[in-house]
Amino acid sequence: MSQPSLATVRGVAELRAQVRAWKAAGQSVALIPTMGALHEGHLSLIRLGRQRADRTVASIFVNPKQFAPHEDFDAYPRGEAHDAELLASVGCDLLYAPTGAAMYAPGFATAIQVGGVSEPLEGAARPQFFGGVATVVAKLLIQAEPDVAVFGEKDYQQLRVIQRLARDLDLPVEILGAPTARDADGVALSSRNAYLTPAERAAAVALPRALAEAARAVAAGGRVDSVEAAAVTALAAAGFGPIDYVEVREAGDLSRLGPGPIGAASARILAAAKLGKTRLIDNMAVG
Ligand code: PAF
Repeated sequence: MSQPSLATVRGVAELRAQVRAWKAAGQSVALIPTMGALHEGHLSLIRLGRQRADRTVASIFVNPKQFAPHEDFDAYPRGEAHDAELLASVGCDLLYAPTGAAMYAPGFATAIQVGGVSEPLEGAARPQFFGGVATVVAKLLIQAEPDVAVFGEKDYQQLRVIQRLARDLDLPVEILGAPTARDADGVALSSRNAYLTPAERAAAVALPRALAEAARAVAAGGRVDSVEAAAVTALAAAGFGPIDYVEVREAGDLSRLGPGPIGAASARILAAAKLGKTRLIDNMAVG
């Protein structure tokens, strides 16, 4: 089925001209930043953007600054034409797809570091990651001047880092989190699931199962240390390894909870582990 083609801009001037024209006509604008390789999870972010604003802009930019040299920047799946069709199919209004040179012009020398919430978990496992994310997201928000920007709770720590960034820099944008989209068996949708072999994809279901069981046990008053250890054991038994972390954290600033029961604290359980060559992350609310 052919979809209407999606207007695409590659430069900041064109992007701002369109966003400012919409705003001058009294319309609000949502930005949904992505790295492409779009799936139903991304499309759910666009749908939320459409509920919350009159116009939606999706960006596609595989951001080199958030990949370490040994990570999958070169192999990261790319397919702008197909992504544009998917975006058009859910009513996205504009695609912003800047080139690397446009985003990071020669001499680019600025880096944004968000302290605190970006330091544990992914920040400890991938030390370059949140600096790269914060720098590119700050640029995208400044470039697009949206009223609302939508990020998936699948990358829960990233969502919290970006909310901190927007607050700290007084960026005039509301940062919205969208619930994680999952396959029927509970596995969180991710562009990196494409790397899994069929056997690994079948084993991946152990991750949401371990997190759901851990979240239930913590909410029922279980000790954080024993619940985390049980989740690690379940993941290892399913073939995950190495396991970077399975941790129960305060839901807002991601500070450590436990080792005993969490009492009335609002909590999130987060995990990252490798399955074969693919590193998977997932998280769930406790209670
Ligand atoms: O979540 C992602 O796809 C990326 O980290 C983001 C937010 C688009 C920044 O490059």
